[in-house]
This record gives sequence, structure tokens and C-alpha cells, in this order.
Amino acid sequence: MQNKIKRIGVMTSGGDAPGMNAAIRAVVRTALYHQIEVFGIMRGYQGMIDDDIFQMDSRSVANIIQRGGTILKSARCKEFMEPAGRKKAYDNLRKHEIDGLVIIGGDGSFRGACVFSSEFDIPCIGLAGTIDKDISGTDFTIGFDTAVNTAVDAIDKIRDTMDAHDRIFIIEVMGRDAGYIALHSGIATGAENILIPERKTDINNIIQSLQEKERRKKMVNLIVVAEGDDFGGANEVQKILEENLPKSEIRVCILGHIQRGGSPSCMDRVLASRMGYHAVECLIEGRHNVFVGIQNNKMNYVPLETAVKNKGKIGEEWMKIVKILAS
Ligand code: F6P
Repeated sequence: MQNKIKRIGVMTSGGDAPGMNAAIRAVVRTALYHQIEVFGIMRGYQGMIDDDIFQMDSRSVANIIQRGGTILKSARCKEFMEPAGRKKAYDNLRKHEIDGLVIIGGDGSFRGACVFSSEFDIPCIGLAGTIDKDISGTDFTIGFDTAVNTAVDAIDKIRDTMDAHDRIFIIEVMGRDAGYIALHSGIATGAENILIPERKTDINNIIQSLQEKERRKKMVNLIVVAEGDDFGGANEVQKILEENLPKSEIRVCILGHIQRGGSPSCMDRVLASRMGYHAVECLIEGRHNVFVGIQNNKMNYVPLETAVKNKGKIGEEWMKIVKILAS
């Protein structure tokens, strides 16, 4: 097949995720292998608007596969939401004769790519990169595995001190709209309750079961809450539990941004490398406006719109597992 793509741009956008550097490296080196020139775009869409664009070579991505964060930096760009911002961005791409884009980011970044590619004739390929794993059409996203492992490591440590003092601990993990980090880290650490945005939180039920435990003098209880839970996060849960459990000692720990940093896990490095390679293949094959995901350990190409429209759902069985194993 004739390769019409001569120059591509690569960027990281939205919340950074461990493994983004490994993805950049894979995109750059695969493109160079195919004699395609590569331009790094700094701070996602903001760099496109500001013309913060530079040519990359193989050495630009040396010694980064193991590093967290992103060498291209990242941003959430308001200006790109306006037509004038997108026009500026397009003009800058034309100036550099960039004829294809690889966008490593989450659903917000894909939303931007959908609008951009409907206005201007430039193929956009997404790579699913977000610790939240809140993109439908892929089993995993770059950064999720590392973030969950970071959370698990922290929660294991908290469990030691929780157990020593017979306390209830409420641990808040990231996930504004998605409960996957809470679900996975909660199951992996044996949490008694996991509160996620996808499910309505029955706080009365939790209170009753804790009151029952209080009566049996089993004060230890681990609750993992996603920050976007409908009840309102760990501090809100603490308030209501304290009102109803006067004999229990209740502590909160918000893990926050430590979940976004750190050296990517082996799984994230391999996933990012495979996705980066496939993103360039997509552009060479003439695909437009898809993102590279993984399903059943195979790379798949999903229309960007799908990721935007269908948010992930957490099935009933997951909650059943949590309930049975915590009993
Ligand atoms: O990237 C996803 C995420 O980590 C969410 O889980 C979290 O709510 C949000 O980003 C935090 O964003 P910021 O770093 O901009 O405060």
C-alpha cells in the first residue's frame, strides 16, 4: 500500500498516565522505521495552538521507557474548545506540513480529536492513555495498571496500621467518573466496601453492617471510595459514619496524585509499546479517527466517537464478588 503520510505529530493530552513516555517512544521509533518524520507537540492541544512543535529523532526518546509523566508534557486546553483555537492549531500543523496526528490521552482528548477531524482534513489516531480506564472499546488503558498497583501498595500499608489500632479506614482513590481504580485496588486489598460512581451508594446498608460489627467488637473495616462516588468522596463518608458509629475510630486517607506518577509497570510499558506501534500502522494504512485499544490481548481499532459516547459500565458480577469475598 502506498504510504501517503510523510510527517506526523505526536502529543500527550489530559491527565498524564504512567506509560505515556513508552507510547511516545514507540510512535517515534515506528514512524522513523517507515521513513516518516515525527514532530513532538508540547502540552497537547495547547502546543498545537501555540506552535510549540519540534522535530524528534530516535535519540529524543532514549532512556524514557521507564519514566513516569510525559516528556511532551500535558494540559487540558480550554482554547481548543473554541473554533478559533482549533483553526490556529490547524494552521500550525499545516505550517509544519504535518499530515497525521497521534493523540495519547483519555476521553476528553478524544472528544477534541473528533471535533477537530470533522472540521479539518487530518487523520487523528488516539492511544487510550488514562489511569481511569474509562474508555469503552478497550480492556485496558495506558497507566491503569501502574496506578492500581500504586494504590494497592499504599492500601496494604494502611491496612497494617488500621489493623494495629482496630480502626475503620476510608481510602479515596482517583476516578472522577469511573470506579475501576477503586474496584480493582479494593478487591486486591480485600476491602469490605467499594464505593464507585457507576453504582448508587447505599450508605444506610454500610452503616447497618458496621453497627453490627461494632456490636461484635470487630472494628476493623476497609472502605475504598472513588473520588467521584455519588455520596461525595471519603470525607463525606467519614462524616456520616462518625455520626452513626460513636465507638469506632475512623480515619481517612486520600491517595491523590501519587496514583498518577511513578515508573510504569511492565504491563503498561508493553501495552504502550504495542499501541504506539499500531498507531503508526493505522496512519500508514490510511485509517482515520480511530483509537488503538486492546481486547482479549489483541490490538483493536475503535472509532473515536465510540470512546466518547459509551462510557464503561461496571457489571453486577463485580459487585457480587466484592460482597461475597468481604463477608
Ligand atoms: O486523569 C484522570 C484523573 O486522574 C482523574 O482520576 C482525576 O479526577 C483527575 O484526573 C484529576 O485531574 P487534575 O490533575 O487536573 O486535578
